Amino acid sequence: MSTQAPIRRMTVPQIRARKRGDPIVSLTSYHAHTAAIVDKYADFILVGDSLGMVMHGMDSTIGVPLELMIMHGKAVVRGTQRALIVVDMPFGTYEESPNMAFRNAARIMKETACGAVKLEGGARMAETIRFLTERGIPVMAHIGLTPQSVNTMGGFKVQGRDEAAWQVHIEDARAVAEAGAFALVVEGVVEELADRITAAVDIPTIGIGASKNCDGQILVLEDMLGLNPRVPKFVKVYGDLGPAIERAVSEYAEEVKTRNFPSAENVYR
Ligand code: KIV
Repeated sequence: MSTQAPIRRMTVPQIRARKRGDPIVSLTSYHAHTAAIVDKYADFILVGDSLGMVMHGMDSTIGVPLELMIMHGKAVVRGTQRALIVVDMPFGTYEESPNMAFRNAARIMKETACGAVKLEGGARMAETIRFLTERGIPVMAHIGLTPQSVNTMGGFKVQGRDEAAWQVHIEDARAVAEAGAFALVVEGVVEELADRITAAVDIPTIGIGASKNCDGQILVLEDMLGLNPRVPKFVKVYGDLGPAIERAVSEYAEEVKTRNFPSAENVYR
């Protein structure tokens, strides 16, 4: 009889408690099999709405529907056992009112069985973050370069190059922490601003193109694997899967052209 202890998933309070602790390891995942690999190493996995661009060829995350997030969220939860799974709330599903945000966040939580949701925005989202957390929905916030605001920002632009804007970002961080967010993604801001944000809040900051002094880092899996043709400049590429896939596909194509493919007896052993 097996006496193996059940594997427990990382919890929101455990992530929250990592402020100034061991760096939090995080990556995005969008499907079950890659998530199963990431699950061995990551504290939390984000089913990011970047999937619209990375998996579905969109130009921005604006067009990502809630149903797509739920579908990929379910796949990632199925493929994993230990990391906390966080699912992004896509553009247009939470900004209008706390009630709307609760309805859609509850749907994500119920249908995917994820452990938390993430939404973009600072002080302007504080009331919504409080509304959700008080009703049992853990929220990860996201400030700095917020891709869902690409149209108002005029592109995917590093934030805080002008020091005059720093205070707004710092106030955003304080507002979401005070409203109950358990962690905060800080994306695409100048290093010193990321450091000030990290020092200003008592929840972990998760940097992406931010600073080594953040409490953790997140990268888009396909970016660091060399699978995305549009990798942001700050990303260190750890794998070269794009060229490796191309080599494999071209070898396959050559073999098929020479009729070098197995018969049924060899395939279905
Ligand atoms: O959608 C996403 O992948 C994200 C990360 C880049 C933080 O929000």
